[in-house]
Amino acid sequence: MAERDPSTSAFVVLFSSLLLLTVVVGEEVGKSGRFPLVVSTWPFVEAVRAAWRAADNGLSSIDAVVEGCSACEELRCDGTVGPGGSPDEHGETTIDALVMDGVTMEVGAVAAMRYVKDGIRAARLVMKYSRHTLLVGEWASAFAISMGLPGPVNLSSSESIKKWSDWKENYCQPNFRKNVIPENDCGPYKPKHDTEVAIKGTLTESCETGKIEYRSSLIGHHNHDTISMIVIDKTGRIAVGTSTNGATYKIPGRVGDGPIAGSSAYADDEVGGCGATGDGDIMMRFLPCYQVVESMRLGMEPERAAKDAISRITRKFPDFVGAVVAVNKNGSHAGACHGWTFQYSVRDPDMDDVQVFTVLPS
Ligand code: GLY
Repeated sequence: MAERDPSTSAFVVLFSSLLLLTVVVGEEVGKSGRFPLVVSTWPFVEAVRAAWRAADNGLSSIDAVVEGCSACEELRCDGTVGPGGSPDEHGETTIDALVMDGVTMEVGAVAAMRYVKDGIRAARLVMKYSRHTLLVGEWASAFAISMGLPGPVNLSSSESIKKWSDWKENYCQPNFRKNVIPENDCGPYKPKHDTEVAIKGTLTESCETGKIEYRSSLIGHHNHDTISMIVIDKTGRIAVGTSTNGATYKIPGRVGDGPIAGSSAYADDEVGGCGATGDGDIMMRFLPCYQVVESMRLGMEPERAAKDAISRITRKFPDFVGAVVAVNKNGSHAGACHGWTFQYSVRDPDMDDVQVFTVLPS
């Protein structure tokens, strides 16, 4: 199958977003209560347009989420969604994705999926054609292909291979290992015992604070990005979905927050929905989107619920980088972030096109 040039795709997305109104968010917005409503992490404008078209044409919230996230996979949004990005230590791209129905609380997800580029469609197949919630690795690929998705295909791109070759030439630095001694520059690694010296350039646990210290180059907008999308359809049904190719230079087999319900996304029709992006290895320990929805259930407005979920993480991990966007069942929305400036995109019936909201770190 022909592959799009990711730099062209990135330009289209960037150019589209520049044409749009950018608003700095101070408090929650969007209280008209009119649906459909589409909300997505980042200025993934084409993805929101695709979901909007589907929802506006009367498709269900689940189908609209799949259309939206699928558009991002095709465009390889930011290089961190779909094929061709985030090579692992072996140079391979794998995909994490999830879809959740806020009416039935059904979830379908795939993790570390190889050789199949359509993450969100694979996740929907798991939800629709199995009683399971999460399939992983090559078995997720086999299931997706058996249910009709194209594959096996090579998920690498010239960009991901170049990135990986450069990393190998740089002695496989930075990387996600900690407390190890490499036998050679790029491993194999063995555990470091207390008497040995930690190797320079790997993740290390600080002796003074006991906290994990991350190299800043491993965490950022173009690493750990996720499309996490919330749709309320015309009938008020809420669904969420995510798709990401994870963290660049991850250890093979690593699964991030993307396919973990309650972490990267969560929905309950009775309350609202939530999407998250950022350092999934940290976020999945806190289930921030479950926290957001449950806080809203207890009466918090979206802004307060979003800030509360982020602060629960930063109290333990002050260097954490990530964000959440909260949407209640009336359509009010707000974001919160830490360690970076976060943007999210919205389309509702009052808007002529997608609007991008900017959230400053608290
Ligand atoms: N948030 C994406 C990841 O960490 O895999």
